[in-house]
Amino acid sequence: MQIVITGGAGMLGKKLAREILKRGALTGAGGTPVPVDRIVLFDNIEAPDIPRDPRVSFIAGEIFDAALVRRVIAGDTGSVFHLAAMVSAGAERDFDLGYRVNLDGTRAVLEAARALARPPCVVFASSLAVYGGADMPETIEDGQAPMPQTSYGAHKTMGELMVSDYTRKGFIDGRSLRLPTIVVRPGKPNLAASTFASSIIREPLAGREVVCPVRPDSVMPLLSPRRATAAFLHAHDLPAAAWGWNRSLMLPSHDISVGEMAEALRRLAGEDAYRLIAWRPDPAIEKIVNGWPRRLDARRACAMGFTADSSMDEIVAIYIEDDMKPVEG
Ligand SMILES: NC(=O)c1ccc[n+]([C@@H]2O[C@H](COP(=O)([O-])OP(=O)(O)OC[C@H]3O[C@@H](n4cnc5c(N)ncnc54)[C@H](O)[C@@H]3O)[C@@H](O)[C@H]2O)c1
Repeated sequence: MQIVITGGAGMLGKKLAREILKRGALTGAGGTPVPVDRIVLFDNIEAPDIPRDPRVSFIAGEIFDAALVRRVIAGDTGSVFHLAAMVSAGAERDFDLGYRVNLDGTRAVLEAARALARPPCVVFASSLAVYGGADMPETIEDGQAPMPQTSYGAHKTMGELMVSDYTRKGFIDGRSLRLPTIVVRPGKPNLAASTFASSIIREPLAGREVVCPVRPDSVMPLLSPRRATAAFLHAHDLPAAAWGWNRSLMLPSHDISVGEMAEALRRLAGEDAYRLIAWRPDPAIEKIVNGWPRRLDARRACAMGFTADSSMDEIVAIYIEDDMKPVEG
């Protein structure tokens, strides 16, 4: 079976590819493991650290190029992980490109999936950015209605609705995961408004100064890249009956203030590392971040077997273990 990962050169795309290579098989439509013969990573930039493995190939292109996407999601593609996206601050800055990438791109992926001989499993990377609004409760529960306050959040909500509708029609077997902020992101900051949550750990650990653009009392739900990758695969491997008609799922998270994140850094890396954080609130970033959920009560996901990290120390330890050593393969 072929697996396609869009956004395959991105942070989660590469980690997901590595994990699939390690496992060697994914659960197929019949409920039994099917060997993965080929993983296609599709992205508009080629990252230098794409997994080196004979089963992996990279195709460069724009996700909204429907004809190309149809040539990529073809043949015996059994599953698609749709991760390509223009992230929050980027989509807020460029309204038209945001819609092209996040809405037209998702439609192109779903249309290509629909054209396959057999309906594939499609796992869509959605976001907590689907929630928002002035009357958002302190803790978000499963029944909370999406009310996005950014274009990015609106795109993810529309993507989820399309995934559900294509599933209802029997074109795909879709599953959308509302990811919290993924921390610690290795490499460089990206255009997500939440990117500082990783930077305030990663940069001081590397001995570099960093600016934190929100106040220490801002609370954010977090998940490590390792758990997020496991969640994509768990979402994929669950039988359709476990999802029922509701194909969108809020994931469990570790909910913590930015000040407590910095304290974890102080505990693990010492006072000198902690002092490399300069607290300089940026009203534009604060407005986006404070419009997001603060705490989650993800009971449905927990009952379905998804798990969160137990502490910030665990999240930092995962970064040190997985990303501060050279990656193999
Ligand atoms: N990382 C997080 O904190 C987080 C939180 C919530 C949701 N998500 C979602 O999870 C997914 C993966 O996140 P990530 O952190 O790996 O992001 P990332 O930015 O590292 O990866 C996204 C990839 O999409 C690619 N891409 C962007 N525009 C494209 C285009 N026009 N055509 C083809 N590819 C294009 C980028 O080049 C990038 O490699 C995204 O959909 C993101 O919205 C991430």
